[in-house]
Amino acid sequence: MNILLLGSGGREHAFAWKIVQSGDCTQLYVAPGNAGTETIATNVPISITDFEAIRDFITSKNIGLVVVGPEEPLVKGIVDYLQNQPETVAIPVVGPSKLGATLEGSKDFSKRFMQRNNIPTAAYETFTADQLDAALAYLETQNLPIVLKADGLAAGKGVLICLTLEEAKTSLKEMLLDQKFGEASSKVVIEEFLTGIELSVFVATDGKSYKILPEAKDYKRIGEGDTGLNTGGMGAVSPVIFADEAFMARVEEKVVKPTVEGLAKENIPYKGFLFIGLMNKDGEPKVIEYNVRMGDPETEAVLPRIESDFLALLQGIGTGILDSYELKISADYATTVVMVSGGYPGSYDKGKVISLPDTVEGAEIFHAGTGRNAHGELTNQGGRVIAVTGKGKTLQEALSNAFTTVRGIGWDQAYYRKDIGMDILNLM
Ligand code: AMP
Ligand code: GLY
Repeated sequence: MNILLLGSGGREHAFAWKIVQSGDCTQLYVAPGNAGTETIATNVPISITDFEAIRDFITSKNIGLVVVGPEEPLVKGIVDYLQNQPETVAIPVVGPSKLGATLEGSKDFSKRFMQRNNIPTAAYETFTADQLDAALAYLETQNLPIVLKADGLAAGKGVLICLTLEEAKTSLKEMLLDQKFGEASSKVVIEEFLTGIELSVFVATDGKSYKILPEAKDYKRIGEGDTGLNTGGMGAVSPVIFADEAFMARVEEKVVKPTVEGLAKENIPYKGFLFIGLMNKDGEPKVIEYNVRMGDPETEAVLPRIESDFLALLQGIGTGILDSYELKISADYATTVVMVSGGYPGSYDKGKVISLPDTVEGAEIFHAGTGRNAHGELTNQGGRVIAVTGKGKTLQEALSNAFTTVRGIGWDQAYYRKDIGMDILNLM
């Protein structure tokens, strides 16, 4: 089968790496891909939001399965588009419908969905600019810290945790009146601050049945000890020690089941991945947010632990036969360390030459923001550039393999967090 994968991050390199290991993969195309996917698949220079070009490519290359990596084309409705075109109506796509993707595209929509389906989450209210007075009055009644969330997609920057009432009021006005996050903050969700330990839970679903993939912990801040600005993610660890069997059973009962059943009951077509960010508060889960895709860099730690055929999982999702898929998960550890361009998440230089080691043991190197210069040399082209996943029987071994590999990769102004996984090691 020929497969088209959309995206260009570390997540997509990890997807591609798994897909080409399957005997059923004839040809894998990645649009637009990166310098890593290029070494194992065929990159095609098509934008992930150019739906017409994607449709034409699917037809011309006899594509049998489309896999959508990032949220943007999903929220813009790529699945509905392809299903409404006579040329592509019969091609299975891994990714939710536009309505399903609204679980990530609108915080207000996802909060209302959780409320209707009795899924535990933080208390909240939603306000628009013409309700500013009511919103300010609501803030007065709430405990601190308080969380403000732009309703729409804001490139991961739309969540503010405010420590004082003054700060909350100022930020709220900036969001609603000054469009701090553009159109995305024309509506704001004001939400209770949750305490506890955060966990990323990944679910594959065809809209009827589901499989729970390995869980992961993400390291979001740029600085060691979880300090400094938020990033797309600086590292990931799987499995996660505080997500024990009892806790994961509660997550399945109270969150995963009612979510998948709620989607079916409300006729929200959903064949894809669901990434549930949640807080473990004294053993009880509370949902922080839904994402309608896999996480990055979590995918780079989750996929190496999947032992069963990954392409068969994708086909099960896309064709609606996930029920018969047998998911096999390795008990081994996978730890991902992300190397970023110095300065990220602020401004940084691009085009620095990167050298990779000739041999790597116990680890995989996934590319994210990489490209090639005119001389064919590997260079950094984005903020998050390389994700190295170490594997091992123990967390120590996996971390050691990851960091040894990272130290063998060189480019000027590279930065990475040296404390990935250390908090979990200290809990063990
Ligand atoms: P998001 O952009 O929705 O992924 O949120 C960014 C981060 O803000 C989350 O990963 C959490 O660490 C934090 N966060 C969001 N909502 C809450 C909340 N209600 N309580 C505590 N932390 C939160
Ligand atoms: N690592 C968090 C995300 O993918 O949104």
